[in-house]
Amino acid sequence: MTGRPSEAGYEAAPNIALVKYWGVRDEDLGLPYNSSLSVTLNHLRTRTWVKFDPKLTEDKFVLGRTEPTGGPLRAVVEFLDEVRALARFETHALVRSENNFQTASGLASSASGFAALAGAASLAAGLRLSPTALSRLARLGSGSACRSLFGGFVEWRAGTRADGRDCYARPLFPPRHWPGLVDLVAIVKDAPEKTVRSSVAMQLTVATSPEYARRLKEVPVRIRAIKRALAARDAAALFDRTMEECDSFRLVCETTTPKLDYLVPASRRVLTEVRAANDERGTPIAGYTHDAGAHVHVFTTTTEMVRLRRRLASLPGVEKVLVVSPGPGGHDLRRWVH
Ligand code: PMV
Repeated sequence: MTGRPSEAGYEAAPNIALVKYWGVRDEDLGLPYNSSLSVTLNHLRTRTWVKFDPKLTEDKFVLGRTEPTGGPLRAVVEFLDEVRALARFETHALVRSENNFQTASGLASSASGFAALAGAASLAAGLRLSPTALSRLARLGSGSACRSLFGGFVEWRAGTRADGRDCYARPLFPPRHWPGLVDLVAIVKDAPEKTVRSSVAMQLTVATSPEYARRLKEVPVRIRAIKRALAARDAAALFDRTMEECDSFRLVCETTTPKLDYLVPASRRVLTEVRAANDERGTPIAGYTHDAGAHVHVFTTTTEMVRLRRRLASLPGVEKVLVVSPGPGGHDLRRWVH
């Protein structure tokens, strides 16, 4: 241990990928085949407190009002083992975590969850990690978590090294880079809970989808195009490329054996409605994307937001439409809240 066993809190937000991470070249180290690009969101957050306590005989995990067991508990314990190995001590921990949004709802609770856990556990262990080292650590919990440590628009470089030292996220543009850009999150009714973890599902895609190899060739081109669109604040180009990427992600999922279908009919209605709105105007005024879940993120501009939000909210099966924007990165909570 680099200091006395202690406690710390950390807050992190979910992110939505504009270019998806899907497929790993090293499962133990969580090294992806392709780089990815995301937006960290405001308003939604996970807060996590970690206390290393020599009196504990095992790790304890409290999530909201529940005490998860099985897979979710194992994932937290394995993550704490990584932190203990880095800090060179064996003390067990109490982990308390809360989301201000529904857990496992497809709003990327694993990204904010492991980013917040990485921050809190490393601070509580007395480790003073650089942002890069913290991103590499968070990646071991959940790939997308390595992006949630940073605010605004973030790139996770896949890297080429076998030891993963060059595989971490870094901020591209700060949250206020594009003030007119918003994300309408269409929350659909009856979104199913994930039955297969993303880390398992993506390896099924790598092994069985005949479309995966083509996708890997296309992704670097799309990342370059989206970076250019962000730099120039070119809304039409951003929306176009974001939808193209989402369609490519959905195609590799749907051609996986067994088929991966994350959408419900209401999600598909949102995609169709966005395409219709763009066709009516003859130019992309919005761009949809979704991760491995049924809710759909629709990027648009503040000029179009009110009308489009009303339109999406009136679709059958859409429960509500949240308005979020690029938000801040993870940060220390500096106090232990009981
Ligand atoms: O980080 P994981 O293991 O939850 O996988 C995330 C996969 C996607 O959300 C579908 C894509 C991404 O880049 O966030």
